Amino acid sequence: MPSAGDRGDLGRQESHSSLMDDIDEVLITAEQLRARVAELGAQISVDYAGKDPLLVGVLRGVFVFMADLVRSIAIPIGVDFIGITRYGPSARTQGVVRFTKDLETSIQDRHVLFVEDVVDTGMSLRYILRSLQTRVPASLRVCALFSKPRSRLFDLDVAYVGFELPDRFVVGYGLDYDERYRNLPFLGVLKDKAITRRKLPPGAQSGET
Ligand code: IMP
Ligand code: MG
Repeated sequence: MPSAGDRGDLGRQESHSSLMDDIDEVLITAEQLRARVAELGAQISVDYAGKDPLLVGVLRGVFVFMADLVRSIAIPIGVDFIGITRYGPSARTQGVVRFTKDLETSIQDRHVLFVEDVVDTGMSLRYILRSLQTRVPASLRVCALFSKPRSRLFDLDVAYVGFELPDRFVVGYGLDYDERYRNLPFLGVLKDKAITRRKLPPGAQSGET
């Protein structure tokens, strides 16, 4: 008869078991994510003390990071979201970025911290920053949980980076492959069979981030 604690562990494993079958390697554990997000939140609390910053996230990938980040920030903040879609022959090499959801908050004269899940080529970020800048915020900086510096096509200043990643396609902690795996509590790399089974090559999908 397993104890309540054992049953709890078993329950957690079972709840992710079918997704776990598709994972080749865990790159960053849930515990490592928790610790680093807490550090970022503490640093932001110091840097933005007295500034009532507005955290702006881009849906959908950022929702997990944003939820944890805001709870590790100890000063008053506002939160808002935008949605974008990227489409084109290959989202990685070229294409068009378009807003699918705009801010509900005015950012004029606000200290804006733009929050991204992962900055890959930087194309989405460049487009979003240019758009936000035209609304004349008091300041505009970027916090990205993950950055892939080797994939960067545009030179962009990212003030806060959680983890630098190799140029590999990753899933979990909000990041998807064809809308799956966002609910994994860690960051992982997919097995080849999980990629070929689904219809799109990783990194080449268009649609919402
Ligand atoms: P960028 O415009 O090339 O910088 O791509 C940024 C967006 O692409 C992110 O917000 C993600 O939605 C998506 N993306 C980039 N790399 C990955 C990855 O490794 N896994 C899942 N999504 C990714
Ligand atoms: Mg995506």
